[in-house]
Amino acid sequence: MSIINIAVDGPAGAGKSSISKAVAKKLGYIYVDTGALYRTIGLNALRLGLDTKNAEDVTKTLESVKVELIFINGEQRVFLGNEDVSEAIRTPEASMAASNVSAIPAVREFLFDLQRDIAKKNSCLMDGRDIGTVVLPDAQIKIFMTASANERAMRRYKELVKKGMEVEFDKVLLELIERDYNDSHRKIAPLKPAEDSIIIDTSGLSLDSSVDLVLKTVKEKLINEKL
Ligand code: DC
Repeated sequence: MSIINIAVDGPAGAGKSSISKAVAKKLGYIYVDTGALYRTIGLNALRLGLDTKNAEDVTKTLESVKVELIFINGEQRVFLGNEDVSEAIRTPEASMAASNVSAIPAVREFLFDLQRDIAKKNSCLMDGRDIGTVVLPDAQIKIFMTASANERAMRRYKELVKKGMEVEFDKVLLELIERDYNDSHRKIAPLKPAEDSIIIDTSGLSLDSSVDLVLKTVKEKLINEKL
């Protein structure tokens, strides 16, 4: 069977990770969350007490940082050196740090091969911001997933509250808008739909309905294009 790559891009909170994870499971593909890589570089810089917008300082950290994605029973874990940081990268501070370091060209270059290698060897759904445009321009299927800012912020807010974090909705919304702006206005690999992507808006859709919609879209494309 040939290797199928599905690129899933879109803004923060569009439901990319939960939806992609469920779709990947149903298809028997691996799910790759590339945001975790940027978050890990951001977390490392934060721990070193650096300004995550300082390109020179962050670039220096790449000389010694070791980031690895490991798949355990199909579940992705991300390692910073020997430490599993899969949970530590999920704080609002790490989110903003990730957005900041992701605008640094050396960081994107550093993570490029790692992402490409996984896709070369595995049928996968890879989620990020530039997967269909830069990392996997030849992906057989490209999806751009989006939803209204308010709905995306509400989802993120509920997620954080569920994890026991003390957050205010307005702050989550403002941070999300700031992150959207950063991600779509940076000079290198900005967030934008690939020309050949299928746009899926999950506003007002439950997780199950979104999963069904994506799965249907993918299956149609696999059949119609005999992939
Ligand atoms: O998907 P996420 O929220 O975990 O991503 C964290 C940040 O990393 C996001 O603000 C933008 C950046 N990112 C990126 O620039 N390119 C990717 N392929 C994935 C994430």
